[in-house]
Amino acid sequence: MIPVSEPLFDGNEKKYLNQCIDEGWISSEGPFVKEFEEKFSSYLGSRYGVAVCNGTVALETALFAAGITKGDEVIMPTFTIISCAAAALRLGAKPVLVDSEPETWNMDVTQIEGKINDRTRVIMSVHIYGHPVDMDPVIELAEKYNLKVIEDAAEVHGALYKGKKAGAIGDVGSFSFYANKIITTGEGGMVVTNDEETAERARSYRNLCFKPGRRFYHTELGENFRMTNLQAAVGVAQLEQIDRFIEIKRAVAKKYSKGLAGTPGLKLPVEKPDVKNVYWMYAIELAEESGFDAGRLAAHLAEQGIATRPFFLGLHEQPVFHNMGLFVDERYPVAERIARQGLYLPSGLTITGEQISKVVVALREALCHG
Ligand SMILES: Cc1ncc(COP(=O)(O)O)c(C=O)c1O
Repeated sequence: MIPVSEPLFDGNEKKYLNQCIDEGWISSEGPFVKEFEEKFSSYLGSRYGVAVCNGTVALETALFAAGITKGDEVIMPTFTIISCAAAALRLGAKPVLVDSEPETWNMDVTQIEGKINDRTRVIMSVHIYGHPVDMDPVIELAEKYNLKVIEDAAEVHGALYKGKKAGAIGDVGSFSFYANKIITTGEGGMVVTNDEETAERARSYRNLCFKPGRRFYHTELGENFRMTNLQAAVGVAQLEQIDRFIEIKRAVAKKYSKGLAGTPGLKLPVEKPDVKNVYWMYAIELAEESGFDAGRLAAHLAEQGIATRPFFLGLHEQPVFHNMGLFVDERYPVAERIARQGLYLPSGLTITGEQISKVVVALREALCHG
């Protein structure tokens, strides 16, 4: 099987991990955690980084740090991972949804204003599959209505929007370093911000809201979301390679786009002006007239040894939320269509040109001959 994603560890990962073991620093108290926070946030152009144990809790920590609490509303795309809505719900806030725009599959920013009311506190911009959200209109709305902007940048390490790194544009950025992400720590995440108080609240929340100066005394409920020194050691080594990894992702995308150009019934990923797409995954959408939906094409490719992944099923279509009385009669036609017609192709950092060619031939044959 050609895998969808494989990490690449050909830098200092083993050396730094050995250092942790040799020196006995394995918990979150070790020096690599601070080093990873400082180096990753400064790579983004952000002042503070707070490392946590995955990207899901990074979102919750970001919302807590931004002051979100019971009864608040958080506007987010329906086309995203469940982590976004779960983070809001865990803090007692309500996720409020918008549809995707069809070109980049990112949130349709023209729908945000219609969802703002006096309980709205945050716009959560989720950058999808490597392509940044159109952030200028989001920032303008946030200024107009006095809202915070949280970016879920799990899938866009190093992507640029008008020269700025995604994740460092809004008030708070949230990252994942899961094994399939551009740089990985196995499991891991980070919250970044330029605001000292927000960073302090994030640090406090990930560490059980211990009070500085008085141990085991709490005025708020926090969590143990700490990242270990072992994870951060891998993160520091991976970060040394990030520019190369992004170049690999872009080269993979270029080869796919060249091979697949003109294939009937296939929509390829775009790179809008003023944006650098890092093509975290090479995602495609099938026209309904192609005779294929994502499930059928995935099964067809799997028979030929090619692994794929389906697109997200929108939050408004999730039974778990219907059971909670959320989003019951809501419809988002773009998200509904792409959930059924979209999938992503093998895009790992170790993929070879030969493997990409095999995927291209299989796809062209399927779509040209049915
Ligand atoms: C957009 C987005 N946000 C958040 C997450 C959650 O990150 P994690 O798997 O590290 O919890 C993911 C997926 O991993 C994601 O794709």
